Amino acid sequence: MPRIVGIIQTKGGAGRSTLATNLAAHFSLKQPTILFDCDLPQGTSSSWYALRQAELPSKNLLLATAHNHLELIQRAKEHTTDSSYLIIDGPPRLAEMTRAIMILSDLCLIPLGASAAEIWSTTDLLRTLEEAGNYKSDVDARLVWTRFRAQTREAQELKDAVQKGLKFRDLQSRLGYRVAFSEALARGQSVEEGNDPNARTEMLELAEEIGRILAEKKR
Ligand SMILES: Nc1ncnc2c1ncn2[C@@H]1O[C@H](COP(=O)(O)OP(=O)(O)O)[C@@H](O)[C@H]1O
Ligand SMILES: [Mg+2]
Repeated sequence: MPRIVGIIQTKGGAGRSTLATNLAAHFSLKQPTILFDCDLPQGTSSSWYALRQAELPSKNLLLATAHNHLELIQRAKEHTTDSSYLIIDGPPRLAEMTRAIMILSDLCLIPLGASAAEIWSTTDLLRTLEEAGNYKSDVDARLVWTRFRAQTREAQELKDAVQKGLKFRDLQSRLGYRVAFSEALARGQSVEEGNDPNARTEMLELAEEIGRILAEKKR
């Protein structure tokens, strides 16, 4: 069975595809990985993948797509033996799809920019999390701080408020606000392959933290 990581967030533009594509590139370096694009017709992960395969073809990274939650469940079943990791890039809104991702995933990641609007939007996710809990008792969904500006007081204050008030745990590793992330997305690359050492280190630390969380889970 592959390890399944779902990236969810009800707000658009939060950094789901950025996280999904970078993690897919990271894990596919060592193990067969499938990147699932569930945000169609937007298809950011699909476009990234097409670019990447044209420049840097790899048999270790495959793309799958799903237009709705039933298709996702069916397609995920088809990939239980040919991959070590499934990375699911989720859609904004669509509670049914988000719920299915929560149920399927070993770990769900919620990219969150340190802005009030994004933090408020996680309330919807709590509702979906509750529904998913009716199907699976141990849904593990954690926040990943992204576009984080460590030097601003607003970011720090919002982060502290969330840690006190929200029910989600957060990962220790954070992604900063860096041009390297948008450049990598536009080039079909990961930031680990780019030339910003800060972005590279952040992504590597995040992927390693995720790897450790997955390794600790009973199967
Ligand atoms: N850490 C970051 N630093 C700078 N820009 C980012 C970062 N994360 C995402 N972006 C940019 O923000 C935009 C939205 O990100 P994306 O991953 O496509 O969001 P989503 O998939 O949630 O809609 C993209 O242009 C992306 O390059
Ligand atoms: Mg996206």
